[in-house]
Amino acid sequence: MRTPLIVGNWKMNLTTKEAASLVEKLRSRLSDTKEVEVALCPPFTSLETVAKTCKGSGIHVGAQNMFWEDQGAYTGEISPVMLKDLGCSFVILGHSERRQFFGETNENVSKKVKSALKHKLIPIICVGETLSQREAGETDRVCREQLMESLEGIDNLEGNEIVVAYEPVWAIGTGRTASPKDADHVANFLRLILANTYSARTAERVRILYGGSVKPENIVEFIAQPNIDGALVGGASLKADSFGEIVRLCVI
Ligand code: 13P
Repeated sequence: MRTPLIVGNWKMNLTTKEAASLVEKLRSRLSDTKEVEVALCPPFTSLETVAKTCKGSGIHVGAQNMFWEDQGAYTGEISPVMLKDLGCSFVILGHSERRQFFGETNENVSKKVKSALKHKLIPIICVGETLSQREAGETDRVCREQLMESLEGIDNLEGNEIVVAYEPVWAIGTGRTASPKDADHVANFLRLILANTYSARTAERVRILYGGSVKPENIVEFIAQPNIDGALVGGASLKADSFGEIVRLCVI
């Protein structure tokens, strides 16, 4: 049985003061939803504040990206050692916005995944097709390639040390979502790849999230799908009411 996981990806939003205020509000809303695991991924600038404000609440903290080296002359980058130091347990890797605006490739993602695993950070590996790829019937191929190449060179996985997020690019921030059935089809397909690459046991343990315009109005249909174990939430994670409600609706 996989524990549901709801991750808030705050993207480039909120000052430290706004971040602390949002976490305070979330703490009271999430005090009776222990069956659902929750992680907040603020920008680097408010990681420390969020980690401190989350202390004792059971809410996990994650980053939205990282570099693969531990330290060195890499101006502007943040290392896994620094993330651990701040109390992070998750890191989002390969988000489509990083691929689109910052040249992130599957090869980069694979180096970052290896580094995250070495430092016992749980990578949330993002895959997803663009609209033109979907229309060309390439969804499965693109997602398979992104997942396989992100896991390149990793020979053994138990399953609980990674999370996979299926985020169709055309559903991010657009108000459009994949149909829950289509999202479940891709999640099932990704699980089969994991079973072939590792083992059925590993595949059974990996949590696969759906992301793309998730809100309180649609979370129930997604979480009801057999292969979807939670959500990676963007816009709706910036408000305590909507994010709190999404988590609450995942309590079975
Ligand atoms: P939205 O929920 O705003 O569509 O963003 C999804 C996303 O990119 C989460 O990583």
